[in-house]
Parts: sequence; structure tokens; C-alpha cells
Amino acid sequence: MTLATLTDVLATAAERTKAVGAFNVFSIEHAEALVAGAEQAGTDVVLQVSQNAVRYHGALRPIGLATLAIAEAASVRAVVHLDHATERSLVDQAVELGFTSVMFDASALPYQENVAETAAVVTQCRAAGISVEAELGEVGGKDGVHAPGARTRPDEAVRFVAETGVDALAVAVGSSHAMTERTAKLDLDLIAELAAAVPVPLVLHGSSGVADDEIVRAVAAGMTKINIATHLNAVFTDRVRSVLGDNPAMVDSRKYLGPARDAVAAEVARLLTLLAS
Ligand code: G3H
Ligand code: ZN
Repeated sequence: MTLATLTDVLATAAERTKAVGAFNVFSIEHAEALVAGAEQAGTDVVLQVSQNAVRYHGALRPIGLATLAIAEAASVRAVVHLDHATERSLVDQAVELGFTSVMFDASALPYQENVAETAAVVTQCRAAGISVEAELGEVGGKDGVHAPGARTRPDEAVRFVAETGVDALAVAVGSSHAMTERTAKLDLDLIAELAAAVPVPLVLHGSSGVADDEIVRAVAAGMTKINIATHLNAVFTDRVRSVLGDNPAMVDSRKYLGPARDAVAAEVARLLTLLAS
């Protein structure tokens, strides 16, 4: 049993000015690949199930329980995290299933409402021994519209953490969700300013659009959790496309899903090694 809370793995990473990779689970193959990659790298890992993935499956329970079972069998520490939940009922389900962390995303609400909603989630999760990540400043791209211009104000971030009691904070510093080119330029001065002022670990969302060297600079400046989803989806799909392209008569789905899972595991191992180095 190697389930860990987000608070525990981020504390270990922050002590060493390193970061933990957090990757999204869309199917059981993704969860298996993320754990295999972390075991190859010998590092902690965060497996996240987003509200959008729950919508795709129609329920949290099947994909959530599969992810928990895979994480529990890992030989490294694995966090099972609910990602970008805007609905309280989903938080209730994650707590009940045994998730070790949730991200409650009320960043689209006005500041005071974001504080009130997030603080209530913290009270609930604290009682269950679960970590809470929240977002302030609204990282763009969740609705398909890239908005790398959003920024989190350090003074507001300090106040937000004090008023809510969150364990980690997602901040807007130049990345945007769902980019397929790794060309985002981060505001590294702002990351350093936020890291110096905010007493909890910072989270970089939309990291698929950030190149390796820029990720390394972001970690050095103070980012502790690096969220990557689209990039690994591209790795998975590229491999499926190439296997099927080479074998047009193939019908056994294990024969193209297996190589795709292996490709994701290798890229996860590479990314986790980069974040831990
Ligand atoms: O919460 C998930 C991440 O922020 C992933 O974003 O798909 O742009 O890497 P991405
Ligand atoms: Zn995100």
C-alpha cells in the first residue's frame, strides 16, 4: 500500500527544490503507464482524474477505483488526486472512494466566493486526512481558448492561502491548458515572487505547452507540482496511430493499446527524472 497525500509528496520535493509530476488518467492504460513510469524513475507520482474525465466515463467510481487499485500496488508513493473539480458532489465522492487529494477549482468565481467555497472543501477534506489544491488567477485554456496572459497577484495569493487553509496553490504565470506546441514563455520573476511569499507549494497547470528547459527554470524558481496531460495524450495517440498505420488488419486492441501504454510510461519516466534532477 503506497498511497500518499499530496501534502506529503510535495513537502519532500519542496525540501530539495525539486518537483513532482502530476499526470492525467483517462483510461486504465494511462494509470498503468503513469505508475510504470514512476517505478522506472524511482520517484513519487500524482495520478489525477479530472472532472472532464469523469464526464467522459459518466461516473467517478469505475475509473477512480481502478486508479486507486493501481496506485496502491505501486512500489513508489502515488497520490490519487481529483483534478479541476468545480462540483462539490464530486469532492464528496472522491473523499468516499479514498482519494488522497482533491483540487477544487473555483477560480472562475469572484475572489470572495472562491475563498468561501474552497474553505468549505478544506474543512471537509482536512477531517478526512485529504490534501486540497485550489486555484487563484484562472489558468487559461480550460474552455479551449488559450489565455496565457492571466496572472496571479502575490498579495492576493498570500491572503487566499491564509483565508482558505489550502495545501497547494495553482497559479497563473503564463501557461495555458491543452497546448500542443511546447512554446509557452513563463513569467519566471513572478514564480519566484510567489514562491517567496506564499507558504504552500505552487502548482503549474497547462505544462504540456512548456518545453523541458522552461520547466526546469520554473522548478528552480519555485514550482513544486507540474501538471501534464495533453502532451502524454499526444504520445499515446501517436503510438496508436503508427501501430495501426503499420498494421491495417490489426483488430486486437491490446496490440495497439499496449505499445501506447509503454510509450507513455517511457515519457513519464523521462519527465519525472527531469523534475527530480
Ligand atoms: O490539470 C491538468 C493540467 O493542467 C494539464 O494541462 O493538458 O495543458 O498539460 P495540459
Ligand atoms: Zn489544469
